[in-house]
Amino acid sequence: MDVKQNQIRLVSTGHYAPPKILTNADLEKIVDTSDEWITTRTGIKERRIAENEANSDLATKAALAAIEKANYDIKKIDLIIVATFTPDYKSPNVANFVQAKLGLNDRPITAFDINAACTGFIYALNVAAQMLSSGNYQSALVIGSEKISKVTDYTDRNTCVLFGDGAGAVILEPTKNAKPWLFFTASRGDQDLILYVDEYVHMDGQKVYQFASKAIDSSIRLLLDFDGMKPQDLAAIIPHQANIRIIQSASKSLGLPIDHFFVDLHKYGNTSAASIAIALDEYLDLYKSEEERTLILVGFGAGLTWGAARITL
Ligand code: UT7
Repeated sequence: MDVKQNQIRLVSTGHYAPPKILTNADLEKIVDTSDEWITTRTGIKERRIAENEANSDLATKAALAAIEKANYDIKKIDLIIVATFTPDYKSPNVANFVQAKLGLNDRPITAFDINAACTGFIYALNVAAQMLSSGNYQSALVIGSEKISKVTDYTDRNTCVLFGDGAGAVILEPTKNAKPWLFFTASRGDQDLILYVDEYVHMDGQKVYQFASKAIDSSIRLLLDFDGMKPQDLAAIIPHQANIRIIQSASKSLGLPIDHFFVDLHKYGNTSAASIAIALDEYLDLYKSEEERTLILVGFGAGLTWGAARITL
């Protein structure tokens, strides 16, 4: 079964971006690059860098933003999933630290991380939805959080201009009265060397670019074709924020105007597993509506991994 269906309710969203801004002009002083090259090739103008904060601090601040926005009773939370490839330590996981930093140590919470690179938030949403639908969990805090600056080689102009730090969070609950959400997640593990992380991020940008353009288009079409929905029926698409040209290519192939795609990569660069979560929160803050609307969140990344979620609010 390619597409999974679940009845889920989005209770709240939040995000956190560390205050330090690294602009394209700053990068011009570090590597042989230019604002003109970065802007025309990627759309990125600046990105955030976490200085004295761990990944789990970013994740906790995003979670608190979501909690405060809905004035949510955090004692209900019994599941915390953090999507990340840049945890504080190899172990314990970031979700454990978030539990502690939220003061929930005495609660019986299932807390774990997911690493599906830039598709991590889509994977985490999917896993949370399956667990909530089981009837065994009542409230999930799902976070995408990255401190990519600690695995960025600031002598490598091919990668250091692309990435930034940040975190986004959602609170989800099961429901019986909502239009089902649809999930699609996929992977193939034989293309690992085009994008991988050891001490630093390494990437064959053009190969990732070609894969990404196809993955976005096919994932969105799969979730639309499931019940004959048209791209025009979507209120918006919230794509992984890697490169404006990848988003423009999806806009063209789907025949959907570019203003249907929410874009904030000029401010944050590529924040990997955090990017869709941050963008979703910013989108919902900017475009408030009481009317039912359907969005598609779509991501792609190392693994290779890719996937999408169709959510109705
Ligand atoms: O979230 C994970 C998924 N990652 C992505 O989605 C990334 C997908 N790929 C991309 O976004 C693009 O491929 C990049 C933005 C990474 C690169 O853009 P491109 O148009 O594919 O450039 P390129 O790699 O073909 O490089 C073109 C030229 C090269 O110079 P030569 O060989 O033509 O002389 C590069 O060395 O640009 C050079 N270059 C730079 N020049 C100035 C590469 N990086 C830079 C730089 N500043 N930062």
